[in-house]
Amino acid sequence: VGAEIGDHAHYLIKEIQEQPRTIERALKGRIDERFETAHLGGLNLSVREAREVKRVKILGCGSACYAGELGAQLIEDLARVPASAEAASEFRYRNPVVEPDTLYVAVSQSGETIDTLAAVQELQRKGGRVIGIVNVVGSTIARQVDGGIYLHAGPEMSVAATKSFTSTVAAFALLALHLGRMRDLSPEQGRRIIAGLTALPGQITEIIERSEMIAGVAAEIAQSRSVMFVGRRRGWPVAREGAQKLKEISYVHAEAYPSAELKHGPLALISPEMPTVAIVPDDDLLDKNTSTLSEIKARKGPVIAVAHRELPAELADRTLVIPKNEPELDPILMSIPLQILAYHAAVVLERDVDKPRNLAKSVTVE
Ligand code: G6P
Repeated sequence: VGAEIGDHAHYLIKEIQEQPRTIERALKGRIDERFETAHLGGLNLSVREAREVKRVKILGCGSACYAGELGAQLIEDLARVPASAEAASEFRYRNPVVEPDTLYVAVSQSGETIDTLAAVQELQRKGGRVIGIVNVVGSTIARQVDGGIYLHAGPEMSVAATKSFTSTVAAFALLALHLGRMRDLSPEQGRRIIAGLTALPGQITEIIERSEMIAGVAAEIAQSRSVMFVGRRRGWPVAREGAQKLKEISYVHAEAYPSAELKHGPLALISPEMPTVAIVPDDDLLDKNTSTLSEIKARKGPVIAVAHRELPAELADRTLVIPKNEPELDPILMSIPLQILAYHAAVVLERDVDKPRNLAKSVTVE
């Protein structure tokens, strides 16, 4: 997971392919099989303090914020603590109410993003307790926060976030497990999540091995002017991150929408010229998701589904089938085909994959 590009054409594909190892590194030494929990030594949070947390507020920019949205759902699901994520750049300018029993989490790969750092400083000025989920050891945000979790994902050289995104979500799963086991999460549920986490690296490898099929779909996507991404619940942040990846590296316009909101506007855009990438996990919302697909197909919109099994032709033109984990952890796996899709679309269009125009790896000035 070092900074050498090796035989890879781009850092981006190297970093995508590193994910089985970077997830392992995020988990290493942090799983306690005996007590079905996670050890997070750097948090600096006593059991008592952790139990007193009434709310969790997550802040970050770009992909860090989308990973935070998945983090918020993990914390609500496993720890049953109300949690939400917001762009740090918005939070810092709206005179937020800072509460003593809220745990604030700043997410940043680089640890240098100015808006995230400013949000942390504003919180601390008002007495808020902030922990960090950061990749770069010793970075400004890592030093500023009161404790935290390092990703240990190694240097991320490509401007677009990939391995840091999935590692951040894995770190949130550990945090949610840790908080959950101090509250109401049962040992059985803890064991279920641990088994899911440990299965991730092998499952990511399986997805990477199927890249060729995804590259075929990417060549089709690359010809579109605009692509819609939809998902619901945990699929919604996955869709947002998928759209972000596509637009930032291939410059194909992409828009993400929560599936059920399609009919409140963007359905008007659906036509044979506008493909939709849909996140369709095999869970309790499967029927809701397939009815969204029928609505799109009725308007002759091409559909590419990310799903746990092949969908029939009346619902999807292509299915990117991925292995199934636990529902809470499936978003980690579902985001990987979208990274591969964006990468190959950018390659087909001969974009500057690792250094997209107008963008910087970390935005340290406003
Ligand atoms: C820039 C990068 C994004 C990244 C965001 C936040 O916009 O291009 O890929 O998600 O900054 O960066 P951070 O280092 O704070 O995670």
